Amino acid sequence: MMKNKSLVSINDFTREEHIRILELAGAFEKRPKQRILEDYVVATLFFEPSTRTRLSFESAATRLGARVIGFSDSSSSSVTKGETLRDTILTVSNYCDIIVMRHPKEGSARFASEVAGVPVINAGDGANQHPTQTLLDLYSIRKTQGSLDNLNVAFVGDLKYGRTVHSLVQALCNYNTTFHLISPLELKLPSSVKSSIKERNLEYTQSTDLQNIISSVDILYMTRIQKERFSDPLDYEKVKNAYVLRNNMLAGAKSNLKILHPLPRVNEITTDVDDNPMAYYFTQALNGVFVRQALLASILGVVE
Ligand code: CP
Repeated sequence: MMKNKSLVSINDFTREEHIRILELAGAFEKRPKQRILEDYVVATLFFEPSTRTRLSFESAATRLGARVIGFSDSSSSSVTKGETLRDTILTVSNYCDIIVMRHPKEGSARFASEVAGVPVINAGDGANQHPTQTLLDLYSIRKTQGSLDNLNVAFVGDLKYGRTVHSLVQALCNYNTTFHLISPLELKLPSSVKSSIKERNLEYTQSTDLQNIISSVDILYMTRIQKERFSDPLDYEKVKNAYVLRNNMLAGAKSNLKILHPLPRVNEITTDVDDNPMAYYFTQALNGVFVRQALLASILGVVE
């Protein structure tokens, strides 16, 4: 089903395929060390910084017995000599069975998938999409709430440039979600993503106020203001501290509330929240290993 398919946008996989990945991830969580990818080479090409995505992919691949090649900083590659993305991808395709790529340019992952001789997994392309983060977000939501259906989900922070938000909103449109979009006016959800909510006739609210929404939601999805996407540093300065979640703000929250954040955080969640049982963001990052094991095994055709 997913064998040899690239994953560039979250909608490249069907709702049924998302669920299959979550089920497989559950099995890998129970048994994360299985040498089922011993015959495979995974290339991780990161043209942009990463801690969780690259290392959890490499951990996932290594724990399944695969070999990992690649770079975490394109300044150590021949890109610095002027090599094009096309030539890099054509070359690396000859050295591996699958490419995991992060790149600052929107559309780069789609382009790579069109020229590569092997499947490409988008590990984040600019402000566009981050589909593997979405699958681990869905896994985290389903695990903590028992279901993906009929939830109230608040997205807080940089909804304009936050690629994890764009992918997750689109995925949650499959599940009768009520969306609460909390952002500064300058960082509202792009209309191209909001249209997914409208097309499904799903309910949504839009506001600049965080405190008022906390008591009504099941998931509070906090995000970092994406400093690196602003063309004018002064515009970033105006919004950089727009939302700071503190522990005392959670007093009236529902007992099932979980706080998610794709991480890294800067100062949008204070560290006194970390000990609150509602804080789930570090476990969320751990879940990324199991979800990425499921993705690698499915796309390489080792499991169905
Ligand atoms: N969530 C996420 O993409 O984190 P990294 O930038 O550390 O990979």
